Amino acid sequence: MSDSLRVAVIGAGTMGNGIAQTFAMHGHSVNLVDLNEEALERGMSTIRRSLERFVRKEKLSAEQSEEILGRIQPTTDLAGAVGEVRIAVEAVFEREDVKRGIFEQLDKHAPSGAILASNTSSIPITRLAAATGRPEKVIGMHFMNPVPIMKLVEVIRGNRTSDETLAETVRIAEGLGKTVGVARDYAGFVSNRVLMPMINEAAFCLYEGIATREDIDTIMKLGMNHPMGPLTLADFVGIDVVVEILDILYRDFGDPKFRACPLLRKMVEAGKLGRKTGEGFYAYD
Ligand code: CAA
Repeated sequence: MSDSLRVAVIGAGTMGNGIAQTFAMHGHSVNLVDLNEEALERGMSTIRRSLERFVRKEKLSAEQSEEILGRIQPTTDLAGAVGEVRIAVEAVFEREDVKRGIFEQLDKHAPSGAILASNTSSIPITRLAAATGRPEKVIGMHFMNPVPIMKLVEVIRGNRTSDETLAETVRIAEGLGKTVGVARDYAGFVSNRVLMPMINEAAFCLYEGIATREDIDTIMKLGMNHPMGPLTLADFVGIDVVVEILDILYRDFGDPKFRACPLLRKMVEAGKLGRKTGEGFYAYD
């Protein structure tokens, strides 16, 4: 285990609670921040459920699970939460204006030497860094869902990120048991620039009647040895998130190859957002 750090994670949703859990599982003290108690309680109960899975699999003891929970401090006070941190990781939803507002706050309240990282999946880091007075300390730290299980952290170097910040971020990510892939700061980086067109094309295959949803998923899952077919994965990621990322790629590159399939937009309008709403390409309990 690497040295124990004090960290803050901003946003207790799917990614934020997974990131907080992962830091705590590696011995770090985490302040988990969200706007209200309900969001924090939802985040903490997801963490409890995930830790229970590790206990059931005998990968953690019940005592270890309690210790990990004890290292996570939920709070609605962002300024207080970041006052003494070495690194703050922002993981709120993908709205640039919201993220920029958070980076302004982080810059104001975090120690001057602290790293300010964003878990953004597609918004350029350089633009978030411009909201701060320390762009050399701002970096992308893109975790994958489910965070406690997935091995990758995609680290994104903004236009003004320093070598020191990059090296320290890589060290921190590796200390969490992750493998790092570094990408330059262009929309979607590598992961979503490659993944989203695949999901989009799978949606077009369904939209154009090329194959059933099951056949599309079977072909890609077994044919390419992917853990999930692309439509199942879209439900897992969230159809709204898929469309948001495709729109950012389309806007930033101005390239029609990123045009979102009309079927995806229709699903968002209908509230069929995937697992989180109980229905997407498939229905869920
Ligand atoms: N917490 C704790 N353990 C978990 C977990 C969680 N949240 N989720 C899964 N697990 C564990 C299970 O307990 C199980 O453990 P064992 O191997 O010890 O039995 C293991 O993970 C596998 O889970 P399951 O048996 O339930 O199911 P599975 O074999 O289908 O694996 C999966 C589930 C890991 C999600 C796998 O299907 C998978 O890797 N899917 C692809 C995920 C993916 O591509 N993620 C990236 C999405 S893109 C993204 O995140 C970035 C973005 O910007 C949009």
